[in-house]
Amino acid sequence: MTLTNQYPSLKGKTVFISGGGSGIGASLVESFFRQGSKVAFVDIQEDVSLALVERLRQESGSPGSVHFYPCDLLDIEKLQNAIERAAGELGPISVLINNAANDNRHDFRQVTPEQWDKCSAVNLRHQFFAAQAVYPQMKQLGGGSIVNFGSMSWHAGQGGMPGYTSSKAAIEGLTRGLARDMGPDKIRVNTLVPGWVMTEKQLRERVDENTAVEIDRNQSLKERLIPENISAMVLFLASDDSCMCTAQNFIVDGGWI
Ligand SMILES: NC(=O)c1ccc[n+]([C@@H]2O[C@H](COP(=O)([O-])OP(=O)(O)OC[C@H]3O[C@@H](n4cnc5c(N)ncnc54)[C@H](O)[C@@H]3O)[C@@H](O)[C@H]2O)c1
Repeated sequence: MTLTNQYPSLKGKTVFISGGGSGIGASLVESFFRQGSKVAFVDIQEDVSLALVERLRQESGSPGSVHFYPCDLLDIEKLQNAIERAAGELGPISVLINNAANDNRHDFRQVTPEQWDKCSAVNLRHQFFAAQAVYPQMKQLGGGSIVNFGSMSWHAGQGGMPGYTSSKAAIEGLTRGLARDMGPDKIRVNTLVPGWVMTEKQLRERVDENTAVEIDRNQSLKERLIPENISAMVLFLASDDSCMCTAQNFIVDGGWI
């Protein structure tokens, strides 16, 4: 699916995306690139990230640019350095998309304190520190937009991954608190809540013979969600067209929750 809407306010803006190498993140990178933004992204998967950069750079006709900074988000200092480098090379960041996460399943009976902390670090902690790091740049620019990725999983009462669902629930609180703190500087903070999106990883690891029945029973719309459905909403939230939207959840789930 090719997104057709163009947002002039995104052209030339520096956009920083976490987890941009694959899944929804790769669609976000491509979508902002096609808007003519200067896209910086971090990911732990170097091969797929470099292949994405290569593919987009082969394309002619877009005024956008794309730049990959290898980074493990568990290391906050590395994340802060990547943000600083991207801003130095591309100009101050005016859009931050906190997308990276890991939804690995875990049995509540067996989780250790170390595993709990790691799960929280990969799903929640980096979102806060990325927002903290871009704040002075957005303030200097006179405004900005931050989109934090939540999940419909805990809204739907899903079990089997308490560390992940706790982090995703906390992100909605993080959004609302930061929206209040940063609002006076015209920085907007919203949560994008995806439904079950058919990414490479979901198709490889989660989709099975029961999936179709489950989706058809739960979604109001019977089509399958794809990454571009999520990117379409994120572009709107990043653009000036959503200038009075902040502190909210934007749910793209085909009508599940
Ligand atoms: N796909 C879905 O059905 C779904 C549903 C609800 C919420 N979400 C949320 O949407 C966002 C994107 O999901 P997705 O399905 O594309 O995920 P994904 O697992 O397919 O991709 C996540 C990306 O983040 C990167 N990443 C993971 N850990 C990292 C680390 N430590 N350092 C740097 N990069 C790291 C991965 O390499 C990958 O490129 C996530 O926040 C996820 O929780 C997705």
